[in-house]
Amino acid sequence: MSRKLLVTHALPYANGSLHLGHSLEAVQTDIWVRFQRLRGHDCLFVCAEDCHGTPVMIRAQQQGETPEALIGASAAEHLRDYHDLLIEHDQFHSTHSAENQRCCNQLYAALRAAGLISRRSVRQAYDEQARMFLPDRYVRGICPRCKSPDQYGDSCEVCGSTYAPAELLEPRSTVSGSAPVWRESEHLFFRLGACEAMLREWLASGARAPAVRAKLEEWFTAGLQDWDISRDAPYFGFEVPDAPGKYFYVWFDAPIGYIASFEALRARRGLDFDLYWKSETASELHHFIGKDISYFHNLFWPAVLHGAGLRRPTGVHVHGFLTINGEKMSKSRGTFISARRYLERLPPEPLRYYFAAKLGAGVEDLDMNLDDFLARSNSDLVGKFVNIASRCAGFIERSGGRLGVQLADPALYAEFVAAGERIAALYEQREYGAAIREIMTLADQANRYVDLHKPWALAKDPAQAPRVLAVATQGINLFRALMIYLTPVLPRMSEAAGHFLGVPVSAWNDVATPLLGVPLAAYQPLATRLDPALVAQLIEAPSAPTLPSAAPAAIGGPAGATAAAAKSSEKAQQGGGMIGMDDFSRIDLRVARVISAERVEGSEKLLRLSLELGAEPRQVLSGIRSSYAPEQLVGRLVIVVANLEPRRMRFGVSAGMVLCASGEGDGVFLLGADSGAQPGMKVS
Ligand code: MSP
Ligand code: ZN
Repeated sequence: MSRKLLVTHALPYANGSLHLGHSLEAVQTDIWVRFQRLRGHDCLFVCAEDCHGTPVMIRAQQQGETPEALIGASAAEHLRDYHDLLIEHDQFHSTHSAENQRCCNQLYAALRAAGLISRRSVRQAYDEQARMFLPDRYVRGICPRCKSPDQYGDSCEVCGSTYAPAELLEPRSTVSGSAPVWRESEHLFFRLGACEAMLREWLASGARAPAVRAKLEEWFTAGLQDWDISRDAPYFGFEVPDAPGKYFYVWFDAPIGYIASFEALRARRGLDFDLYWKSETASELHHFIGKDISYFHNLFWPAVLHGAGLRRPTGVHVHGFLTINGEKMSKSRGTFISARRYLERLPPEPLRYYFAAKLGAGVEDLDMNLDDFLARSNSDLVGKFVNIASRCAGFIERSGGRLGVQLADPALYAEFVAAGERIAALYEQREYGAAIREIMTLADQANRYVDLHKPWALAKDPAQAPRVLAVATQGINLFRALMIYLTPVLPRMSEAAGHFLGVPVSAWNDVATPLLGVPLAAYQPLATRLDPALVAQLIEAPSAPTLPSAAPAAIGGPAGATAAAAKSSEKAQQGGGMIGMDDFSRIDLRVARVISAERVEGSEKLLRLSLELGAEPRQVLSGIRSSYAPEQLVGRLVIVVANLEPRRMRFGVSAGMVLCASGEGDGVFLLGADSGAQPGMKVS
């Protein structure tokens, strides 16, 4: 029986590029959608750009453009990335759209009518200079518990404690740098607590990964708090209809974007709204998301839908986070790999295949080890799978270009057909890794079949021609069965294989009928080996000169600096972190004393330092503002790269670079010289 499904993955934020983590999610979802379609189900796939909120607003301001221009450019970039990753949405819409505004207003009105909206006053940090209320993340100050400087308004990265922004010592707005004041403002709340019984019932109804279930239990035990769904102007979002000057919080309107995107598709295709959004039995609604946004999708979202009289999701499928070479993606390690960086170098299908091979239904993080990626792609895809076709194709060609009319080993083919239902069940449960293992086991079997019957040896005897054709026909049919099973993962290769076989893969069940007696097109390689050098390039070379081993991260000076420095860092990469003494001696490191330091107006990161180094004071712009107050710096001895080409930045000229150590999220730490050292001394 054909099912009707509506599938989504999380809406990407409009203020950043897609990286391989986003790609993992999109690929996971796209595979599932393609699988459902191949099985003959009616499966819609929608997504949208997530446009609203403070970060987008501020970023647009900083870049001197309108939020609309920013989100437009971002959507175009995201769409291109998805397209090149072979992600095929039926609709990619926007949360900043007429459809979404209408849906938000309708859901809000329904929630209010159901008594699920309440109002109360909230005390919040307010930036008088920027004239705006500040989200917790935009207030920084000294941690009230451990006294670490420069911590966020909601939690301390040093001691891990959480608190209210009002508790921060010496709080500062990161928007203007001024000290915030505290103001009362009325906000709208969604009464999540009133939905507890309904949510418990809903959560019990669907299959969920044990880890997700445990987390939800934890949240129930902690108690469901009312949810603040409004923000004060100025805010980039939709104004709340009955509360002028209040805007819907981005996380209220974002999931509603799923409905808005469906609405845009409905207008084009004439779909039935009620069938997809009112009935929990006539259709299925599936959301694919990462573990960081489970609360929004497993609690808020079903409660909002149900409260507004709409259906709840059939499945909320939570995946873990992608790590690279065993570590969290990190800008400073160069492992923050953007989708574009990958796509500029390598084809999408090996990545889709690798993700599939790694994915299960659980929430565990999954690691992309680049050596493993290269090996798997080359050995599984090219060495095992495509190899079956490439080693048989020539014999068919030499026998007249037509497949035989009979299989040499129907029983073996029947085994491949029988495996189809097991493999389908694994795809359905999102156990792609297990599905791929089954498929590759069959590929081994197919290769063994060819090895055993040695068509190349038989072909030496003209009398054996019928046997050669039969063996090659068997091999091509085994290949075709596996190609059908891999079609959700490798859609482009499947298309090319369809050209070769003369029949496109159109349904999972195509496998039931072997392909016999039909002509084949000339064989073109379906995949080629990946170049290790290109895979290695996925990791970005550090943008500052790299020194051997415990290399301090240099901050504030020109990124990439001179050609020589860039070159030597490239060499350092290739040579396993080694540079010669020559390279090292080209960097002129000196002791300098900070004469004065001040914040750079309009920049969140930079301090303007005046340094005593030689005869003249030197100005260096240094990105250490997040970790140092200017007052702390005056008089300190620091280490400077003195022979960097001066660089003109937006905020002035920077003539040199101050060396710092830095780790992921730990802030930066200035390197200094012990007292007694004199400004101008050479460091070696
Ligand atoms: N805009 C919100 C989602 C709104 S959905 C109504 C958002 N955007 S995001 O761009 O930050 O993340 C989009 C998706 O990517 C999320 O599901 C998130 O979990 C996922 N990932 C972000 N980093 C990831 C990895 N490193 N690995 C895997 N998925 C990751 O959240
Ligand atoms: Zn602390």
